[in-house]
Amino acid sequence: MRYNQRGVALVAALVGILACAPADEPSPANGHQVSDHRAGAPGIGDTDFPKDGNGGYDVGHYAIAIDYTPAGRRLVGVTTVTATATQGLSSFNLDLAGFDVSAVTVNNAPATFSRNGDELTVRPARPVDNGARFTVKVSYSGVPTPRSGTTLGTYGFIPTPDGAFVAAEPNGAKTWFPANDHPADKAPFDFTITVPAGVTALANGEMVGQPTTAGGKTTYRWRERYPMATYLATATLGKFDLRQGRTPGGIPNLAATDPRFRSALDGLYTTSGTLTDHWATVFGPYPFGSTGGVVDDFAAGYALENQTKPLYGGFHPGENIIAHELAHQWFGNSLSITRWKDLWLNEGFATYAEWLWAEHKGTRTAEAAFRELHNRPATAPIWKYPPGRARPDDLFNQSVYSRGAATLHALRKAVGDQTFFALLKKWAADHRYGHVTTDQFIELAEQMSGKELSALFDAWLFQPRRPA
Ligand code: ARG
Ligand code: ZN
Repeated sequence: MRYNQRGVALVAALVGILACAPADEPSPANGHQVSDHRAGAPGIGDTDFPKDGNGGYDVGHYAIAIDYTPAGRRLVGVTTVTATATQGLSSFNLDLAGFDVSAVTVNNAPATFSRNGDELTVRPARPVDNGARFTVKVSYSGVPTPRSGTTLGTYGFIPTPDGAFVAAEPNGAKTWFPANDHPADKAPFDFTITVPAGVTALANGEMVGQPTTAGGKTTYRWRERYPMATYLATATLGKFDLRQGRTPGGIPNLAATDPRFRSALDGLYTTSGTLTDHWATVFGPYPFGSTGGVVDDFAAGYALENQTKPLYGGFHPGENIIAHELAHQWFGNSLSITRWKDLWLNEGFATYAEWLWAEHKGTRTAEAAFRELHNRPATAPIWKYPPGRARPDDLFNQSVYSRGAATLHALRKAVGDQTFFALLKKWAADHRYGHVTTDQFIELAEQMSGKELSALFDAWLFQPRRPA
């Protein structure tokens, strides 16, 4: 789903229909222009990650059914992707890393397919017309191979001794299901996860019914009914202690900890509840159906803001990181970036939320945090690498986080607290469940403040030097 492209797509379709109407060439009797079907692009158009995602369709729903056996690390999966073609498609791609693909159907008819790196190319028996809704079902199995990058650590579907740790930012969803693996295409998800009895499976959203056990296996069903980027999908599984209830403000809250982190359970539950409610007062209504967090025994060296269930990788999470991951539910999850170069819209906002939380508690003002950062020497790397440009080789660099946060503080000082906090709420409300760009944020800031802010944003986001 690409919410803010809907109108554009509609206009383009109408123009297309009008342009086609008076064609000289006779149309086939069924009215289809056969020549209009062509291959969908192997990338969604992100110049920094050219192979990520795919072109030619827009996903409307993912249904992921996996059976995972921790002992053999074997995953057997059937993923059904429902999508709408944005061009006539003779073939199209999904992203999938590893696994043996045993069958692919499109609209229930067997399709031919081929693999090339992480691209799965599907050729339907009948081409898909522009604008048509279609269903592609992929059956696959194998041992998942998580990804590793020097600056990214290990990510994707990561087998652990008792299950799996599933954190896929930026492009590791394809290590466990065939996907349009880029945040520019979001969709609701249904999960059916079968594991050996005694293992708990935790996916996004809320549980559907009670888990069912038969023949020594338990099946869990989860549904995330709001649009979600593929990198935020999880099926973290293993031995877990759970605490469930509601936040003081009434939002369903689920905390889960690996037995090794049992002592973190109550703190995780309580702090996640407090912070979800707190951010709702600062950023506007919580966008999803539940909140919480998961601590698993895998030393990832990072946490990930998995939608409704942030995942903490092998450490006891403190308030700051919980504040960060829950702020992402608004900035990053409800509002998603269209291109990775705008990552500061996620990480700068979530880092600024940490500053705001400290300010709220009275431990340190955001101004003090800003000054500390601004006082770093002119030779510090954050000044050389501006946060508004992608560094595909070091995506989650310090600048995106802390100089991104400082950008927001500089803005707050320029427009005043009243406008700044109204802007945060309007930004979250205007683009709820949608996609955003840096330009849209600058435009809204200028509109709400009545100020010309291009110099401020240019200095903080784009110049390779310390702003004055
Ligand atoms: N978005 C996460 C956070 O800021 C970081 C994810 C890093 N991903 C990775 N593969 N290292 O909390
Ligand atoms: Zn973050």
